[in-house]
Amino acid sequence: MGLASDLIPRLSHPFSMKARVVIVGSFIQDLAFYTKSFPQPGESVIGDFRAGPGGKGFNQAVAATRAGAPALFIGAVGHDVFGAGAKKFAHDAGIVAHFVVKKKEPTGTAVVSINAAGQNQIIVALGANLTLHKQDIPAAPLKDAQVVVCQGESDFRTVAHVLRTARKTGATTVLNPAPMRTDFDFDLLRHTEVLVPNETEFAGLMRALPRSGLRTLATEEVRRLPADQLHHLCRLFNVPIVIVTLGDRGCFVSQPDVYTHISPHEVDAVDTTGAGDAFVGGFAAGLVKFNRNVLEAAHFANAVAALAVTQHGTAAAMPTAREISRFLRKRDHK
Ligand code: RIB
Repeated sequence: MGLASDLIPRLSHPFSMKARVVIVGSFIQDLAFYTKSFPQPGESVIGDFRAGPGGKGFNQAVAATRAGAPALFIGAVGHDVFGAGAKKFAHDAGIVAHFVVKKKEPTGTAVVSINAAGQNQIIVALGANLTLHKQDIPAAPLKDAQVVVCQGESDFRTVAHVLRTARKTGATTVLNPAPMRTDFDFDLLRHTEVLVPNETEFAGLMRALPRSGLRTLATEEVRRLPADQLHHLCRLFNVPIVIVTLGDRGCFVSQPDVYTHISPHEVDAVDTTGAGDAFVGGFAAGLVKFNRNVLEAAHFANAVAALAVTQHGTAAAMPTAREISRFLRKRDHK
């Protein structure tokens, strides 16, 4: 899986096209360490190192673009070597990006640890991402977009502005509340049409949502919930569509009157970092590809996420449209 794809159009200026998917969010320089097992507190372990572009917003933009829906990414970086690297990667890989350079803040960075089972632990320093303000967001791309996506690695006031504006102009608004933050702003849900948490984020949202009455709900308990109860809890958000990603158990799609469990694809996972981003980016691309059909888009996203975990890295691990089609064709013939 190369960094640049022959399927991705090369565009000279971020606004020279009408992007059908606009993703506003984080760019993070990932510093990834691969170890046999995670170190215990006070322990040092030997591992391998790879650096690469990441950040939930940027990963999602790469996933959507490679999956066949060229996306516009809008985010902030610092005036430093990592910010320069972000621009170079985007340019070389054909990702259309509008990077706002913040002179006083560093580019976001993350320490990502990955164990032999492909599981990850991440610490993120958001840096410049938190200073992306509503004045930094050009209005025209939001007006033209079919799908607009935000995550939780930004200032929530900026997220509110983006979702509100996009909703007014008829775009489908997707919120990925990752990572779950204690200051999560439930007002964001008023402008959200599709909410995509993983199980941990779902449990965190439920604990924080006063009307749920579930102040101690644990991720493990979410895993054990029967489908009808999970659907019932999803409805408490008052968001039309809630998709809970379930890791190696696929995903759960809750629509107002119906719910669907989509089974996982069996793959050999080497690195699950960014799997959620692959899903969200793939879902955004799927909404465009399948004329906003949520279930078809979720099936497509499920395949994008399955392929992403078979590669190391985050943004660089996102599969191309050709790889996704080949993968789905093979599954159909099984
Ligand atoms: O979802 C994975 C991403 O989370 C990583 O790329 C890291 O940058 C963190 O933001």
